[in-house]
Amino acid sequence: MIPRLVLLLLAFACSSAPSRPLRGEERLYRAKCTSCHRAYEPWDRDDWPAVIDKMQADKKTHLSPEERAQILVFLQGTPGPSER
Ligand code: HEC
Repeated sequence: MIPRLVLLLLAFACSSAPSRPLRGEERLYRAKCTSCHRAYEPWDRDDWPAVIDKMQADKKTHLSPEERAQILVFLQGTPGPSER
C-alpha cells in the first residue's frame, strides 16, 4: 500500500514539471539576467543570442560559455504561452 502511494505522489509531482529538464536553465537565467531588470519572457523575442551578446558587451554581464549555452536552451527552447 505504501509503495503504491509513493508512486502516486511521484507521478503527481512529475506531471506538473516540464517534459524537458528546464529547471536548472531557468534558475540560471533568473540568477544571471534579472538583477538589473525584469525577467523577459522567453517568447518576448527571438533574437536571444544577439541580446545576450549585447548584455555581455554593454552591461558587463559575465557568463561562461556553458552558462550562455544553458540560458539559450531556456530562452529558445521554451514554448510561448499559446503553445502550452
Ligand atoms: C548589469 C546589468 C544587466 C544584466 C546582468 C543583464 N542586463 Fe539586460 N539590460 C540591462 C539594461 C541597463 C538594459 C536596458 C538598456 C539597453 O537596452 O541598452 C537591458 C535590456 C535588456 C533587454 C531589452 C533590450 C532591447 O534591445 O530591447 C533584454 C531582452 C535583456 N536586457 C535581456 C538580458 C538577458 C537575457 C540577460 C542575461 C544574459 C541580461 N539582460 C542581463 C542590464 C542588464
